[in-house]
Amino acid sequence: MNLFDVYTKYNVDLVKAKGAKLFCSEGKEYLDFYGGHGVISIGHAHVKYVQALTKQLNDIAFYTNIIKNSIQVELAKKLGELSGYADYNLFLCNSGAEAVENALKIASFYTGKNRVIAMKNAFHGRTSGALAATDNPTIWSEFNKGHLVSFIDLDDKQALLSAFEKGGIAAVIIEGIQGVGGVYEGSEDFLSFTRELCNANEACLIIDEIQSGYGRTGKFFAHQHVDIQPDIVTVAKGMGNGFPVAGVLISPKIEAKKAMLGTTFGGNHLACSAGIAVLDVLKEDELMENAIKMGDYLRTELIKIEAVKEVRGRGLMIGIVLENAKDIRNKLIYEEKIFTGFSNPDVIRLLPPLNISVFEADLFLEALKSVTKQVLV
Ligand SMILES: Cc1ncc(COP(=O)(O)O)c(C=O)c1O
Repeated sequence: MNLFDVYTKYNVDLVKAKGAKLFCSEGKEYLDFYGGHGVISIGHAHVKYVQALTKQLNDIAFYTNIIKNSIQVELAKKLGELSGYADYNLFLCNSGAEAVENALKIASFYTGKNRVIAMKNAFHGRTSGALAATDNPTIWSEFNKGHLVSFIDLDDKQALLSAFEKGGIAAVIIEGIQGVGGVYEGSEDFLSFTRELCNANEACLIIDEIQSGYGRTGKFFAHQHVDIQPDIVTVAKGMGNGFPVAGVLISPKIEAKKAMLGTTFGGNHLACSAGIAVLDVLKEDELMENAIKMGDYLRTELIKIEAVKEVRGRGLMIGIVLENAKDIRNKLIYEEKIFTGFSNPDVIRLLPPLNISVFEADLFLEALKSVTKQVLV
């Protein structure tokens, strides 16, 4: 059987990883400033993470959601405490798209409405509703087009008002910081206005923190840099440091009803032990503090590089705007042995593990200087 060929792949076969280091089948070492698309939060093969998963695998890896599971309760408690959302409730699932799909459904159940306002440039995942709220018609199927979604520009208050005038709005969904779209964030003024309009129209405000959350920006959630409180928050990626686990944080005003949502694998024992290990390490190793420190350091040094036109983002979610970003990314991988992310049209996206060191940051900065000199001569 062949693989269903949907990915354009880099020709590097990774076989081992530790911290921010990756090793390929040919024994070559790479530096990970991509985190496998923002997934690696506490670093590859962190000792406490490996120990926790190994122990759990030996104890019990999985059982169904209709049987009591105290590890889920522990995960929810720790997530509530560290995120500042202790009074919210947690629904556990398996991937970012699934978290968004459930968030949209929860908003629709709660409000009894079906229309969604999403942002231009947004990416929310590949399931039906999540994809309909993703501003990329090239990846929509006819099946996804049945959802009622209005796209507006981030920060366009007038467009938001007009979209609300259509009526029937169940939710406004906004990324904490747009990742795939190129590392853009809404202004505090726009986000506060959105919160007010959601209140006035009895709609839910959903903040998608799948890429920007879990300490990446130096606060637990990117939206916590401003003074707003969403009704629903989606999490995934960094939550499991590579183990598939995702969640929806739900305001206490939204009441759960039996059988309203469900999943076979979501919140299984192994996934929860990964989630707990990540939260423990984030706290004990002070990784949010490191994200601020290293983010500030990288930003300060990046803007000194001649080819860099702009640096966006917060903490260790960084968008570097420069010409020929795609070529630069390829050279970084194949010549400098450094993985980074990319956003159209010309953004190198950094999503490294949150425990990178100054030494590793300097390796990246030197490599970027060298590559930009070659590409932009
Ligand atoms: C903001 C955001 N939401 C949702 C998703 C979808 O997550 P997943 O690929 O785990 O379904 C992504 C993935 O990149 C994302 O960046």
